[in-house]
Amino acid sequence: MRVLGICGSPRNSTTNYVLNEALNRLNENGFETDLVSCFGKHIAPCMHCDYCMEHKKCINEDDMNEVYKKLQQCDGLILATPVQSGGVSSNLSVIMDRTRALEAIDYNILRGKIGMSIAVGGDRTGGQDFAHLKNITYFMIHGIIPVSGGPFGSNLGASFWSKDSLEDIKNDEYGFDSLNRTLVEFENFLRKYID
Ligand SMILES: Cc1cc2nc3c(=O)[nH]c(=O)nc-3n(C[C@H](O)[C@H](O)[C@H](O)COP(=O)(O)O)c2cc1C
Repeated sequence: MRVLGICGSPRNSTTNYVLNEALNRLNENGFETDLVSCFGKHIAPCMHCDYCMEHKKCINEDDMNEVYKKLQQCDGLILATPVQSGGVSSNLSVIMDRTRALEAIDYNILRGKIGMSIAVGGDRTGGQDFAHLKNITYFMIHGIIPVSGGPFGSNLGASFWSKDSLEDIKNDEYGFDSLNRTLVEFENFLRKYID
């Protein structure tokens, strides 16, 4: 089974670090993993030109092509985002919009995959839950089954408090507890629902 992690940060720092930790653990537990980062990528916003509806591909030829390929191939999807302006990063939001061109090819292309959310805020209560809700909404819209840490904590996904520092996020015990809880459920769902 393949798990794709998308890092929505425009740089290679705290979100990338925790996503890597998540994918390493999945890898140790027998999953194939892949990480795509927005760092250094050129992915233009959707222009709503509807070219994809007619031509079954996006009019933009950019780094989204790699993401399209990997989205199709994965069984599980982790959306990891820095909290920006109280929600997901603009980089991740662009990827979400651009997914429209995939479904112009095949309406069911993402249906039945398993999804989980990671949100990294500079502040402890900087909007991690709003970022999770956006990720979960994306999952729902595309027929991806969203998982969280369950009813006893990490109720929407894994939430980190980075204090804007790579050193500090490494010591965010609560964040890593929430990641562990969410990963347990994610693995359970993958094993149960993906052949
Ligand atoms: C434009 C911008 C907006 C931000 N808005 C928020 C915010 O609303 N809430 C918050 O907790 N942190 C906010 N931050 C801080 C980042 O979430 C935090 O530094 C995070 O660790 C960055 O992730 P990265 O290291 O993976 O880029 C913002 C950072 C930037 C650059």
